Order: sequence, then structure tokens, then C-alpha cells
Amino acid sequence: MVMTQTRNVHRDRFRELIRSLTGISLPPTKVQMIDQRLRRRVMAFGLADTETYLEQLLGGTLPGDELRTVIDLITTNTTSFFREAEHFDYLAEVIAPSVATRSRPGRPARLKLWSAASSEGAEAYTAAMMLEEARRRGHNFDFAILGSDLSQRMVERAIEGVYDTDQLSTVSPDMQRRYFLTSSDPSLAGKARVAPELRRRVRFRNLNLMDTHYPVDRDVDVILLRNILIYFDPVTKEKVVERLADHLRPGGILIVGHAESMVVRSRTLRQVKPTIFQKN
Ligand SMILES: C[S@@+](CC[C@H](N)C(=O)[O-])C[C@H]1O[C@@H](n2cnc3c(N)ncnc32)[C@H](O)[C@@H]1O
Repeated sequence: MVMTQTRNVHRDRFRELIRSLTGISLPPTKVQMIDQRLRRRVMAFGLADTETYLEQLLGGTLPGDELRTVIDLITTNTTSFFREAEHFDYLAEVIAPSVATRSRPGRPARLKLWSAASSEGAEAYTAAMMLEEARRRGHNFDFAILGSDLSQRMVERAIEGVYDTDQLSTVSPDMQRRYFLTSSDPSLAGKARVAPELRRRVRFRNLNLMDTHYPVDRDVDVILLRNILIYFDPVTKEKVVERLADHLRPGGILIVGHAESMVVRSRTLRQVKPTIFQKN
């Protein structure tokens, strides 16, 4: 009985720590998931079980930047190119042509897009491909993309821009030819890298949406905040949306995932489509 209580104390404190640092709520039903994800760390330190590991983690007795490693393990990084593809059609067919109307002779308008939970970069690079395609169709604008994520491991992968060719199944053959490079180097067999012309338009950085201040421009045209709000508790959801809305220019667009449209309640945003919101 006492053992079980001690166990729960560690788990409860761990869940609270993760919630306060990342906004991610881990309901008790996710106990098994926590165990699975932390198993490798328990083994790496030669500890008896997850409880002992959590006790040492919370007590600050594990070496190095263990908490950062844990945060990397706790985040769910699932993503893919052209995920919820209609968002990218909207970007290329509605938003980009509208931004292009801001261009002046010799001074193309600049579209700024922020992928605010960019994982390993597929979302930001999909946006880059679609914007480049809109430019190829003659819309006169320039663009710059910022991808940010809490997971440093994901940010590093995104910067590298190297993907398994299997991951490109949702990218059309034409776009694969235009925007990805393969190499005869045996170490890159089965891999493709985003072409430098596209990479130079996309930057990635580590950023925690729980921070009260984001070091990002305040005249962003489009923010993609997809498949991240679902992990947050209601108060965090609302705060993150409000803070992000502050970084949109008037008329700027916030796009959330399909499972998330109901959670956007904001004084400054109005819904234009189920998952698309515009700043007043
Ligand atoms: C499921 S992925 C979504 C990726 C992409 N937006 C998409 O829809 O394909 C969620 C991402 O949010 C990141 N994340 C979780 N909590 C975060 C936080 N507090 N701040 C920034 N990113 C966070 C995770 O590391 C993960 O890469």
C-alpha cells in the first residue's frame, strides 16, 4: 500500500513537471506510454524500474541534461509531408495570391510563415514547396519560413532536411525531382535531402510554446499550429493561441489541425473555415 502511494507520488510529480514545462498533459491513462518511452533511460542507468528512475530524475541526481532527453522522449513527433493537404492548397491558392497583391514594381511582397510545432520539418518544407510552386505559376512574392519545436532532436533533424525516400510517397514525382536531391554516397542510400534553394528559405529553432514571450516577428502572415493543441490542457491551449495571435499581422491566418478547430476561442481571431482563423 505504502509502496503504491510512493509510486503514485513520483508519477504525479513527474506528470506535473512535464505539464508545467511543456504544456503536455499526461493523464493517468498514459502511464503505460510513459513506461514504454522511459524504458531505455531506465536501462541506460542500470536502474531497477521506472519508479526509481523518476525518483532520481525528480531528485536531480541523474547526470547531464537528463530532463531535456526526457522531454524529447515524451513529445509525440508524428508528422508527414502534405499532412492535411487542403491547408497547403489554401496557402498556395488563396493566401499566396493575396499576399502577392502587396507587391510593388521592383519590390516583391514578402510572405512570412511560422510552423509553430514543426517536428522534423515536413510541415515547413511542404509549405516551402507549395509557395515555390505558386511563384512558378507567376505570383510575385518572396517568402521566409520559420519552423520551431520544443524538441532539440527534431529541430536538428529539420535543419539537416534528410528524409527516408519512403517518407516522400505523398510528394508528387514532379516536386520530388524539383525539391529533393539523392546521392550516390552509400551512406545516403534510401535517403533524400531537401534542395539547398528550398532550405535557404526555411530556418528552424528551438522554441517552447509555454514561454510567455516568443522571439519572433509580429507581422507573420501565416501560422501553422497543427496537431499540437490536442496535447495541451484547456488553459494552456487558450494562452498559446492568444500569444500566437499577437504575432500575426492584421488579416494574418492561423491554421490548426482538424482535431483542434473547436478549441480556438480568441478575441482577435474569426473563423473563416473549420480549421482556418483570420486575425481582425
Ligand atoms: C504531433 S507533432 C505535429 C507536427 C506538425 N505540426 C504536424 O502537424 O505534422 C507535435 C510537435 O509539437 C512539439 N511540441 C510539444 N510541446 C511543445 C511545446 N510546448 N512547444 C513547442 N513544441 C512542442 C513536439 O515536440 C512535436 O514535434
